[in-house]
Amino acid sequence: MPEAEPREMLRTRGLQAWYGESHILHGIDLVVREGEVVTLLGRNGAGRTTILKAILGMVGRRSGSIEVDGVETVGMPTHRIARLGIGYCPEERGIFSNLTVEENLLLPREVRAGGLPLEEIYAMFPNLLERRGSLGTRISGGEQQMLAMARILRTGARLLLLDEITEGLAPVIVQSLHGLIGKLKAKGFTIVLVEQNFHFAANLADRHYVIERGMIADMIPCEDLVASTGKLNQYLGV
Ligand SMILES: Nc1ncnc2c1ncn2[C@@H]1O[C@H](COP(=O)(O)OP(=O)(O)O)[C@@H](O)[C@H]1O
Ligand SMILES: [Mg+2]
Repeated sequence: MPEAEPREMLRTRGLQAWYGESHILHGIDLVVREGEVVTLLGRNGAGRTTILKAILGMVGRRSGSIEVDGVETVGMPTHRIARLGIGYCPEERGIFSNLTVEENLLLPREVRAGGLPLEEIYAMFPNLLERRGSLGTRISGGEQQMLAMARILRTGARLLLLDEITEGLAPVIVQSLHGLIGKLKAKGFTIVLVEQNFHFAANLADRHYVIERGMIADMIPCEDLVASTGKLNQYLGV
């Protein structure tokens, strides 16, 4: 019997997006299969955040095709798209500063059955248990990032769109985020990581898409990463 093709959690075809009159994405074709980790690499302003927002219907206008778990979503409003099981961690994290850590964790509604209960969250993020009564503003940047991640795991989402989660964080926190992404991959989550460079996800990602001026400039499978380091550094300007 032929092996079943892995399920496609996300596939975009000819995805274009606009903010008002500004045409930002010019035809993005990408695929993310169940259990994969994929990165969107690029310089600032390349269009990586806009790809995540376009997937969620958070741009002015979009065209082309975006299938989420086999369902065409290009005509759907954001809340219906999210309910297909997407968790979005925006660059600005979206922590409610006037609520405690635990209140932030209790806030999100399930988008799909299977959200992690509080006990499981606290087992995964012991520092959040310690800080459960602290206000969102009183916790460190690293704790805020952990909280933002924990919150989407509460929703039952299986496809996680994570925007620059390591930005501005100390190496030790980046290291624990790395461990967390590894754990989530092992649990079967499907993950799209927006990053500035490929080091964070080098040994986690199945594939790297290089984004330039709203287009995919290159796609590098993990097995080609070492051989592509020079080319990647050039793309990313480092
Ligand atoms: N809300 C917006 N309105 C108009 N233009 C925007 C908006 N957000 C981003 N842009 C523009 O879209 C382009 C891509 O931005 P973005 O997707 O944020 O890039 P990246 O995440 O790769 O740094 C940039 O030229 C940026 O100035
Ligand atoms: Mg961005």
